[in-house]
Amino acid sequence: MFPIRLTDHLDDDRTRIVPIAASGPLSHEVDDLSAEIAALAEGFGEAGEVRLLPRPLRRPNSVVLAGTGAGDEAGWRAAGAAVSRELRADEPLQVKLDGEVPPEAVRGLAEGLWLGGYRYRDGREDPRSAEVELISPAFSAYAESLALATASARAAWFARDLTNTPSSLKNPAWLSEELVGATAGHTGVEIRIRAGAELDRFGGLRAVGGGSVSPPCLVEMSWSPAGARTHVVLVGKGITFDSGGISIKTREGMKRMKIDMGGAAAVAAATLGAAELGLPVRVTALLPLAENAVGAAAFRPGDVITHYDGTTSESTNSDAEGRLVLADALGYAVAELDPDVIVDLATLTGANTVALGHRTAALYSHNDDLAAALAEAGRQAGEQMWRLPLADDYREYLRSDLADRHSSPARGAGSVVAALYLAEFLGDKADVWAHVDMAAPSWAETSELEISRGATGWGARTLLRYLERLSA
Ligand code: BES
Ligand code: MN
Ligand code: ZN
Repeated sequence: MFPIRLTDHLDDDRTRIVPIAASGPLSHEVDDLSAEIAALAEGFGEAGEVRLLPRPLRRPNSVVLAGTGAGDEAGWRAAGAAVSRELRADEPLQVKLDGEVPPEAVRGLAEGLWLGGYRYRDGREDPRSAEVELISPAFSAYAESLALATASARAAWFARDLTNTPSSLKNPAWLSEELVGATAGHTGVEIRIRAGAELDRFGGLRAVGGGSVSPPCLVEMSWSPAGARTHVVLVGKGITFDSGGISIKTREGMKRMKIDMGGAAAVAAATLGAAELGLPVRVTALLPLAENAVGAAAFRPGDVITHYDGTTSESTNSDAEGRLVLADALGYAVAELDPDVIVDLATLTGANTVALGHRTAALYSHNDDLAAALAEAGRQAGEQMWRLPLADDYREYLRSDLADRHSSPARGAGSVVAALYLAEFLGDKADVWAHVDMAAPSWAETSELEISRGATGWGARTLLRYLERLSA
């Protein structure tokens, strides 16, 4: 990520960004700038609105007005993202912060600059090279905000990079090696990879991964700071490509399925972010990784699968694979990890988009406090969730003649039924669990403010915010 620095040194050779809120008084931008700005600022200031103001023969000779909307964190984030996107990548920038700018504005601004400036690089150089300086006489007051923004943006970039990677490269082995590499850069984070015979009890993961030439694995990452009082287990769906398996997807339905490990990416990124910030909360991330391929060894419609907890699922649609691998991971978490909270993130159903459109994830929990805390973390991070019901009356859809339950009943309310299926594996932890179906917001067709076209890295920032708030 390009550098963003705090300093008290104003440099009139650099392009100056002037933040302007939609209403209320203008920020006290310096001397001779103010008259011009006052004239232009009339009716200006919508979040993400940008206006370039060339000033030939004067210094700074380029000023950029950036709308911060309501002047809250989201507004500043929008301003930062718009500036990153509109301005030349090799142009060093300065933003002057007057005394009234609250710390969360700086967090929003820096996060927005980074997120809006993201591009999948794959070895090519960074989109923005030039640094951005944030100027304030009391700049050290903003150091913590900048550190939070750094961890959060880094987590989102990491999740976006992993998710944007084509599946020709991104198989379970590649993904687990990337995670080993990333973990090595974070003191205090441990990683363990289970494969082969170590997956004996993980029948769902073995079934789903069985059709691929790249074998499945389970990645377990842990951050266990001394004195932590809460243990949060994060589970992320990690299907490195979802062809649908023998119940093969349509051409249209398949073309984006490299993103089907977005949950795993978010969960891993947030865990590393927690370590980077030194958050005093214990985090274990579980990432069942598999490719749902078509092949002679693929599991079949009608197969019965035995999960980690010893119960069985009848699967009549190999495209409902995510829940099968999550079932094992959840069962393992409940049996072995003694979690205080379990949150799973999964690109689980197309029905998420049917219900809520392209930007909003579906949130499920029996626990109102947990649901509220996650939704609030998402609101603050700028990632929307909407709670849907774990409707008891649909539980009968899961009934099976052959197994303890049916994994793919397809009788409507697809996202809800998938959540009800997962709820079966929580045992005595049902009341501390939340499930997020993030199929909808994990991909963006077009760039918009802090969302860059392609993989959005959805969830990394929300989870990190949630962990941060738990630690407060
Ligand atoms: N990975 C898909 C869900 C998905 C759809 C993610 C669109 C991202 C964008 C999942 O494995 C799937 O295929 N779900 C099925 C469930 C059905 C077979 C019960 C679906 O949504 O059709
Ligand atoms: Mn599928
Ligand atoms: Zn899938």
